[in-house]
Amino acid sequence: MTTDLFSPIEVAGLTFPHRIAMAPLTRSRATQPGNVPGAMNVTYYQQRASAALIITEATQISQQGQGYAWTPGIHSAEQIDGWKRVAEAVHNQGGRIFMQLWHVGRVSHPSFQPNGALPVAPSALPVPGKTFIVDELGNGNWGEIPVPQELDLAGIRPIIDDYATAARHAISAGMDGVEIHAGNGYLLDQFINSESNHRTDQYGGSSQNRARLLLEVTDAICAAVGPSRVGVRLTPLGRFMGMGDEAPEETFGYIAEQLNERKLAYLHLVEPSVVGTSLDENTDPRWDGIMALLRKKFTGTLIVAGGYDLQKAKDAIASGRADIVAFGRPFIANPDLPKRFADGHPLNEPDQTTFFGGDARGYTDYPTI
Ligand SMILES: Cc1cc2nc3c(=O)[nH]c(=O)nc-3n(C[C@H](O)[C@H](O)[C@H](O)COP(=O)(O)O)c2cc1C
Repeated sequence: MTTDLFSPIEVAGLTFPHRIAMAPLTRSRATQPGNVPGAMNVTYYQQRASAALIITEATQISQQGQGYAWTPGIHSAEQIDGWKRVAEAVHNQGGRIFMQLWHVGRVSHPSFQPNGALPVAPSALPVPGKTFIVDELGNGNWGEIPVPQELDLAGIRPIIDDYATAARHAISAGMDGVEIHAGNGYLLDQFINSESNHRTDQYGGSSQNRARLLLEVTDAICAAVGPSRVGVRLTPLGRFMGMGDEAPEETFGYIAEQLNERKLAYLHLVEPSVVGTSLDENTDPRWDGIMALLRKKFTGTLIVAGGYDLQKAKDAIASGRADIVAFGRPFIANPDLPKRFADGHPLNEPDQTTFFGGDARGYTDYPTI
């Protein structure tokens, strides 16, 4: 049988009926107080259960890991219960779901931090960007990001433990696995990239040292839930939130090599033409080389995302560039995206004004065919 976008693939002991996955998408609609997934979130994920795999929106592993208003967590009993309903609804529709685990590091605000503390980071460097907070009146607003607190070694260990605990919670909530969010300028990416990591201890300096936290987190999560249930998302060459690396081939090549040894469920790469949540046509000329290098070094299942349409996705699978393609914005607007692609139906256009926060509008009201 030839491999194409509509051929099945085995991942994590599960059979995906095709290769059209739903990318992780923050939608900032968790029930308040407590950042708990509620009934509206259950409906949203259930509607999209025909994806080969749903990767949930980024979900904070701890209160310290939150950086934006109304994003869900996986560190309280109520949150675990809420996610149970989501996983059950997706499974009832025959779907598969991994939870994306998130610690934002420096992309946060004291209003989210325990005791109003400063957000934490590999180094105390200013952050080029803003985050979305809730002001004193309870309204959502853009908030300035303060210069973060540099993590000392005693501060790093509990974060690794929080990742492992969160992974256990995700599995106990019925998730089929977890995806470690190591991209988009959040904590693990801040350690990986030389631009944001000026440390001189074992977590800074060389590519190997900067990759250390990601690998320790990966190992802790693998020990907690088993490597076949663990995926990792990376955004090599990404520039969102002040990222940049002095030797990306070496850094990401080393990471791919190391992750390969761990026999994970998959590696997930985002095309650098996507900066955060927007398309940027200035594709980095080094990308094709890095992509080829990582494909060679990581011999397991590879997911790609970022700016794909049906034709590009078909080409990516046919050419062996990747094994699975994840779609972000198309899945926001098309809950039945795999069917539309398979049957050649036109797509609904996503409404950007309802991406983050709000009610069912632009969330659960996109029509199916
Ligand atoms: C509204 C929105 C929220 C997003 N949230 C996340 C997220 O929580 N975690 C993540 O890794 N990427 C996130 N992304 C990036 C997407 O996963 C994806 O890589 C990006 O949208 C490019 O894919 P697309 O061109 O198919 O939309 C988000 C993108 C959008 C548009």
